Amino acid sequence: MPSAPPVLLVTSEIYPFSKTGGLGDVLGALPAALARQGLNVAVVTPLYGRMSTGGHPIHLVRPGVPVGYPWAPITCDVYMANFQGVPVYFIDRAEFFDRRYYYCTHHGDYFDNCERFVFLARAALAWARRLETPPAVIHLHDWQTAVAAAFLHFARPKDPLLADTRCVLTIHNLAFQGRFASRLFETSGLPWEAWGMDGVEFYGDFNLLKAGIAYADCITTVSPGYAREIVTPEFGCGLEGILGRRKGCLHGILNGADYEVWDPGADRYLPMPYGPGSLAGKQVCKEHLIAAYDLDPALARRPILGFIGRLRRQKGIDLVLAAMDELMRLNVGLVVLGEGNLEFEARLADMAERYPGRVWAHIGYTEEMAHYIQAGTDIFLMPSRYEPCGLTQMYALRFGTPPVATAVGGLRDTIVPHPAPGATGFTFDAPDPARLVEAVGRAVAVWEDAPAWQALQERGMRTAFSWDDSAQGYLDVYRSLGAKI
Ligand code: ADP
Ligand code: GLC
Repeated sequence: MPSAPPVLLVTSEIYPFSKTGGLGDVLGALPAALARQGLNVAVVTPLYGRMSTGGHPIHLVRPGVPVGYPWAPITCDVYMANFQGVPVYFIDRAEFFDRRYYYCTHHGDYFDNCERFVFLARAALAWARRLETPPAVIHLHDWQTAVAAAFLHFARPKDPLLADTRCVLTIHNLAFQGRFASRLFETSGLPWEAWGMDGVEFYGDFNLLKAGIAYADCITTVSPGYAREIVTPEFGCGLEGILGRRKGCLHGILNGADYEVWDPGADRYLPMPYGPGSLAGKQVCKEHLIAAYDLDPALARRPILGFIGRLRRQKGIDLVLAAMDELMRLNVGLVVLGEGNLEFEARLADMAERYPGRVWAHIGYTEEMAHYIQAGTDIFLMPSRYEPCGLTQMYALRFGTPPVATAVGGLRDTIVPHPAPGATGFTFDAPDPARLVEAVGRAVAVWEDAPAWQALQERGMRTAFSWDDSAQGYLDVYRSLGAKI
């Protein structure tokens, strides 16, 4: 019996193979969660030169699949891995994906990102047509794959194989749009009809994310709060107009957290496991962290703040830097893990020199340290200017490290702010250094009341953001489109 038409997820990142942030984490969990809903699921993603296999054997399934981009006969090789029972198809075209980084170097974006990701979109559709049964749904993620919605839209009327395929776009971050010169539209292979206000054109440029917003059958974003925010000029990044016009099919579905990966009770990176009801291990993790990072031993009896994230204005790292002297006056420590903007990296290094033993910063990207810092710190800082969902605060809750966060987007949807009943963390209204310091001050005051702090920690640790709930939300969306799943 042929299997049901699949839901084909198309993504530029999937943990553990590839990851630069939350997008990778989401795609590392969503496919299996959808499969648990009884769906036939497959994934398409690039075969990066720098990719990890995550211990999964990857083998060639089809060489020389014609993609036809831009106009010349160009092909890709397709590899496959079985990941948690889901086939993941890797698109191999070395000139596009065998690079040191995924999207950019310290000097800026790769010059050919438009070609790279238009190619990925076209290769995904080419592969979709070759599956045993064509997909019921093509589910795209962010600007790197969004333009596939436009290609599908114009192919459907004349392509019987894809005629019934529905298309969903999930926006993980509206600020990254894949905006390119209009001449790249001309070589993309899209028809001229696509060039316009309700199409891919954006202030005279070719906008790949807008292509998805314009042509997907339905748009989702990763929290209900962010879904409400992005139709406003404050958060819409210039796309609030078209998003407002498409509001009827815009849904907010909260991400889950993958507790197979993020659980202090079974974390291979920690010196001692812990969980709610057995917090002794957390203190051991903290003492290890103090020793490993050469922090002042007196911090064992004072709160240590943690920050993990891309060093960009989105994450409010500049607010932490601006607030540093005031934060230090609260007699706390601070541990930062991140990379990104060179100015922020340099200023963090300066702060670590100015406050030796109190401020520690690692500039770089390491999965292991992220776990270690989640466990070994007391209070997690997330002063984001906007946050579509945010996963690190979910992990911090599970690790007994109550977050102090701006009340925006997914942060507002996932943190119950003290002193409300059932509080799990602390929020503040606007991204400014004084408010951040004030909120950290409130957190430190509760930390000093050990039983109250433990109650807050334990509530956070018992909160679960389930991928099964999110998958159910996506299933409802697919069904609402009449997809033959
Ligand atoms: P975003 O996707 O906006 O970067 P999220 O909170 O959704 O934010 O997800 C961030 C993910 O990236 C988390 O898994 C976090 O641990 C990880 N991460 C961010 N920066 C680093 C870093 N420097 N080293 C290791 N992991 C990091
Ligand atoms: C984006 C957002 C982040 C979200 C992640 C996964 O990178 O910045 O808030 O958690 O995608 O959806």
